[in-house]
Amino acid sequence: MAEWIKIATVDQIAKDGMNHFTSGPDRIVIAHTCGGYHAFVDQCTHEAVPLSEGFLRNGEFICHAHGAKFDAVSGEVTAPPAIVPIEKLELRLDGQDIMILLDD
Ligand code: FES
Repeated sequence: MAEWIKIATVDQIAKDGMNHFTSGPDRIVIAHTCGGYHAFVDQCTHEAVPLSEGFLRNGEFICHAHGAKFDAVSGEVTAPPAIVPIEKLELRLDGQDIMILLDD
C-alpha cells in the first residue's frame, strides 16, 4: 500500500537546484524548477547512474556518465543515449514539508 512520506523540507532544495534523499531502499532526486518541486527515482535509465551526481541546467537533468538529458518536470528524455523516461513520483507540499507517495 502506498503512503505519503515526509522526505525533505523546501529549504533543502535551492531554486534551480536539486538534492537527493533516501527512504529505506528508495533513492529520490527532487528538482526545484520554475514549475515547482518535482520528484523522480534517482536513476538514469541508460545505465542506472544516479542523476543527482550529474547536473541540473535549464530545467533538465544531465547525466554525468554519458550525457543523457531528461526534462525535470515530466521526466521525458530530451537527449540520448537514454531512450526511456525517468520515473516520476507523486509529490505534494504540506507547509514547508515535501511529501512523496511511496509504496511500502
Ligand atoms: S548512465 Fe546516464 S547516460 Fe549513460
